[in-house]
Amino acid sequence: MCRKQKDSVESAKSFCHVRMEGKKDRTMYEEIDLDKIDIHAEPPIEEPARQYYYMAKCQEWVREFERKNGRRPFAFTQTFGCQMNARDSEKLEGILHAIGFCKAESEEADFVIYNTCTVRENANLKVYGRLGYLQTLKKKNPGMRIALCGCMMQEETVVAKIKKSYRFVDLIFGTHNIYKFTELLAQMYSDKNMVVDIWEESSQIVEELPTQRKYFFKSGVNIMFGCNNFCSYCIVPYVRGREKSREPKDILCEIDKMAKAGVSEVMLLGQNVNSYGKTLQNPQTFAQLLQSVEQIEGIRRIRFMTSHPKDLSDELIEVMAHSKKICRHLHLPLQSGSSRILQAMNRKYDKQGYLHLVEKIRAAIPDIAITTDIIVGFPGETEEDFMETMDVVETVGFDSAFTFLYSKRTGTPAAEMENQVPEAAAKERFNRLLECVQQIAAKKAQKIVHTTQEVLVESTNDHDPALVTGRLSNNLIVHFPGTEDLIGTYVNVELKECKGFYYYGEIV
Ligand code: 5AD
Ligand code: SF4
Repeated sequence: MCRKQKDSVESAKSFCHVRMEGKKDRTMYEEIDLDKIDIHAEPPIEEPARQYYYMAKCQEWVREFERKNGRRPFAFTQTFGCQMNARDSEKLEGILHAIGFCKAESEEADFVIYNTCTVRENANLKVYGRLGYLQTLKKKNPGMRIALCGCMMQEETVVAKIKKSYRFVDLIFGTHNIYKFTELLAQMYSDKNMVVDIWEESSQIVEELPTQRKYFFKSGVNIMFGCNNFCSYCIVPYVRGREKSREPKDILCEIDKMAKAGVSEVMLLGQNVNSYGKTLQNPQTFAQLLQSVEQIEGIRRIRFMTSHPKDLSDELIEVMAHSKKICRHLHLPLQSGSSRILQAMNRKYDKQGYLHLVEKIRAAIPDIAITTDIIVGFPGETEEDFMETMDVVETVGFDSAFTFLYSKRTGTPAAEMENQVPEAAAKERFNRLLECVQQIAAKKAQKIVHTTQEVLVESTNDHDPALVTGRLSNNLIVHFPGTEDLIGTYVNVELKECKGFYYYGEIV
């Protein structure tokens, strides 16, 4: 590294302080004074200093834009898919905010980024549909720049299609190099050609870049990335790569900073949190991590997602049962109730195993809400197999379930299976399942009506400004009379009326 370069990194580091005191501050990062970074020096090699250098460059671009246009540029972020993507988007927004972009509420903006999902084909189709709309906007505003990132971009066929048929896209990157967003943004603004940077894999976890939280009182926290399970229908292991756990000290430090900034509820995120820590140099279990999170002052609620039944340990059940902070909610994807189909899905548990696990959990934590994911129409699924799924749904009595029509994902083993289920049969089963799931969920929700529950107030009500909306420990929603200043606080609410998936209530 040359002298000048070293100086710029050192000056960046020395201006490092945590900007966290303001209770309602949603931005979180080791704030580095970007003006102290010499953008005419060579970029540093190491991370995250390199990204801060490019943030300083992008900030200069934003200032130039402002000088020319008399206003700052607007950026719009659209997230598709799961909570992991939502968290990634907070990181993208944190960077855009740090370099001076204003947040746009629609695609009529100077910069639009779609953080895509590819878990089902529908998700891909949605993105292609929206790209058509972006093209018309770009014709009206030729200075507009369009970026695509996320899981869908890890598929070669997708990138080939965009390069060929969507030439107006300016930047494409994937899941492994999302931390390089600023560097790629700088390249995009200095380059006329489409910038494409997709990595097949990365062992690196780059921390301490800006993030902009959607809520000041709750936040997702990545505890691991990738997945090693290779369920035969699922594309995630191919687009998110091998499982990597973050070091516990980094996770705890991040949560501690969040708590000091006013976050009281955290959602620990991973594709399979139950296998957290196995690949660390000093292996640690997920249950141990939860116990450490529980010690953090200011954290009142802990949630996590997603739990693979095959790795859910007795130790975890024990820790949950004794915890005062872990929410009374477990998302435990079933996928199918047929042991034969579960084997073909490579899920590594069978119907009895799942039912036994649920029994154990309910015995230890009687008031826990259990929710699930179910796929209908997996290749080879017969009516008998489907009835096994219905049987588990009725036996367990899920508090809620996400139901999906099987979607063929090229590159996965299930896509090669011969006996694909005809769409009409799958849809018919799907409708039957949905009705059953909804009826059971409504019955379960009814059980706690007229009780008083602690609620974290999350927002004002979209339809009625006299109401606010809060969440129970079991993840259900309640609307009740209240004002904006309650947002982020905990109140006791009597559940007066059950509307199936939500309640109306009153503060007591
Ligand atoms: N088709 C339908 N649903 C799928 N899921 C994952 N892959 C597919 C697919 N190919 C569902 C699973 C998973 C949830 C996030 O998405 O149920 O738990
Ligand atoms: Fe996909 Fe299975 Fe991994 Fe979940 S555990 S992300 S369903 S491969």
